Amino acid sequence: MNRSSLCLSLTGATITENLQEIEKYNAYCDLYELRADYLEPLSIAALSSFPEQVKKPVILTVRRAADGGHFKGSETERCGILRRSLASGYRYVDLEEDFQDQKTEQAAEVSGVTVIRSFHDFSGVPADLGRRLRNIKRNPGEVIKAAVMVQNTQELLKLVELALELKVRDGWGNRIILGMGPMGFPTRVLSTFLGSSITYSSAPGRQAAPGPVDPQTLVDLYRFPLIDENVRIFGIIGNPVIHSESPGLHNRGFSLRAMDDAVYLPFQVDNLEAFFRLAEVLDIRGVSVTIPHKQGVIPFLSSRDEGVEAAGACNTIVWRDGLRCGYNTDISGFTAPLKESMGGAIPAGLRAAVIGAGGAARAVVYALRREGVEVLILNRTVERAKELAAVFGCSYGSLGEQERIADYPDLIVQTTSVGMNQEDPEYDPIPDYSFKGGEIVYDIIYIPRLTPLLKRAVQSGCRVINGWEMLAAQAGIQFRLFTGQDFPREASSGIADQY
Ligand code: ATR
Repeated sequence: MNRSSLCLSLTGATITENLQEIEKYNAYCDLYELRADYLEPLSIAALSSFPEQVKKPVILTVRRAADGGHFKGSETERCGILRRSLASGYRYVDLEEDFQDQKTEQAAEVSGVTVIRSFHDFSGVPADLGRRLRNIKRNPGEVIKAAVMVQNTQELLKLVELALELKVRDGWGNRIILGMGPMGFPTRVLSTFLGSSITYSSAPGRQAAPGPVDPQTLVDLYRFPLIDENVRIFGIIGNPVIHSESPGLHNRGFSLRAMDDAVYLPFQVDNLEAFFRLAEVLDIRGVSVTIPHKQGVIPFLSSRDEGVEAAGACNTIVWRDGLRCGYNTDISGFTAPLKESMGGAIPAGLRAAVIGAGGAARAVVYALRREGVEVLILNRTVERAKELAAVFGCSYGSLGEQERIADYPDLIVQTTSVGMNQEDPEYDPIPDYSFKGGEIVYDIIYIPRLTPLLKRAVQSGCRVINGWEMLAAQAGIQFRLFTGQDFPREASSGIADQY
C-alpha cells in the first residue's frame, strides 16, 4: 500500500544538535532532511560523517536565500559542498529547478543519490505551477517537489486539484506537493492521499518554512501513519482555526473508537465557495463550522435542522449522497451539561438571566425557551436585547439593570465574548450582582476555564458550568452525526485539563 514517508527537517547549527533532535523524534520519522544551510562552518566540514550516524535515509539540502534558505556563500561554494558530500551515503539531494552545475548532477548519479528537483514560491501558488511541474524533471528517476505558500482557499483548491491530477496521470509517488502556511496545512497531513511520497515536519520552534507541524503532532494528533488513499476526511472550517481544540477532540474520538480510516483537519477558509468545491474534490464527509462562517455557510446548505433555522447559525455540515446537511449542535451542546447538572432534566418554570444578545446568545435563548425556561436578556446595547426578546418571547433590559437578575435567580448565562481573547481577562459583566449561592452560573467561554464571573460564583457557593463542557458536548453530538457512533467521553478529558 502507498504511504508517504514522514521527514523531519533538521535546522540545527551543529551536527551534534541535529543528532539530538533525531534522538528525540526518531520513533516518529522515516527519514531526515539535513538543512546544511543552517550549519556552522565546522559542521559543514563534517557533512560526510552525518549519514552513517543516522540509521535512516537522509536528504541533503543546501538552500539559497532566494529559495527561502540560509546559505549566503557563492554558488561555486554551494556546489563544492554538495559534491564533496554526495558520496558519503546521502539517499537524496535537493536541487532546485534552475540548478546549473553538471558536475554536481553527475556526482549524484555516480553515487546513486536520487535528486529531488524542487520548486519554491513563498508568494503564492503560481498560475502555471502545473506546466512547470510537468517539465521540471531532467532525468526519469528524479522526485519532483513543489513547496508553495498557500495564500487563500482558492489556491489550496488549485494545489489539491493539481496534486490529484498528477496522481491520476503519473501514478502515486515520486512527487512531493506541499502547501506552506496555515492554509496549506491539510496538504501536509494528507500527503499520502495527494500522491506525495514525502511530507516534511519540523521540531517546535525550528520551522525552516512556515506551516510544518512537528512529527509527534502529525503522528499522535493527526494519525499520519494511518492515513491512506481511502481516508475519510473531516475537519473544521474557520478563520483563524489552527489553534482550535476540535481536531484534538475528534481525532482522539476516532482513535478511541478504532476508526483508523478517519482524520479531522483544520481548514483555514477565507472563501466558502472555494471551500465547498474543495470539499467535493477531497470528498469531505463532515465539518464543524466556527467563527466567522456560522452564518455564511447557510446559503450553501441543502437542508437545515430546526436549530439552524432558529439560531440563524450552522456549526455542523454532514455530506450525505452529495447533499450538504446543516445542523446546529451548539444548542444541544449548551443544554446537555445544564441538564446533567440538574439531574437529567430542566425543571418546568425555571427562570434564567442571559447576559449578551449576539449570535451566541441567540442560540442559548432558543435552547432555553425550547425547554420552557423564562428568560431575561440583559445586554450592553438594549436595542439588541429588545430584538432578541421579541423573537423568543423574553423580558429584556440593559446591563445597568443587574438588580433584575434577582427575579430570574435559577440560572445565569454569560454569552458575551469579552475576555475571551485575553483583551480584558478581568471582565465581569455583572459586577453589581451579588450571588446568593443557589444560582447555576454558566459561562460559555472555554479559555480560561474559570472566568472572573465563574470565580466569583464559586466563591459564593454556586454551581458553575464552563464553555469547555459545552464545547465537548457539542463535539460529541457532531461526532455522532459524522460517524454514527457515540463520542467516547475520555476523548475530551485530557484536553480540558490543560486549562
Ligand atoms: P457572538 O456571536 O460571539 O455572540 P456578537 O454577535 O458580536 O458575537 O455578540 C457579542 C456580544 O458581546 C454582544 O452581546 C455584545 O454586546 P453589544 O450588543 O452591546 O455589542 C457583547 N459585548 C461585546 N463587547 C462587550 C463589552 N465590552 N461589554 C459588554 N458587552 C460586550
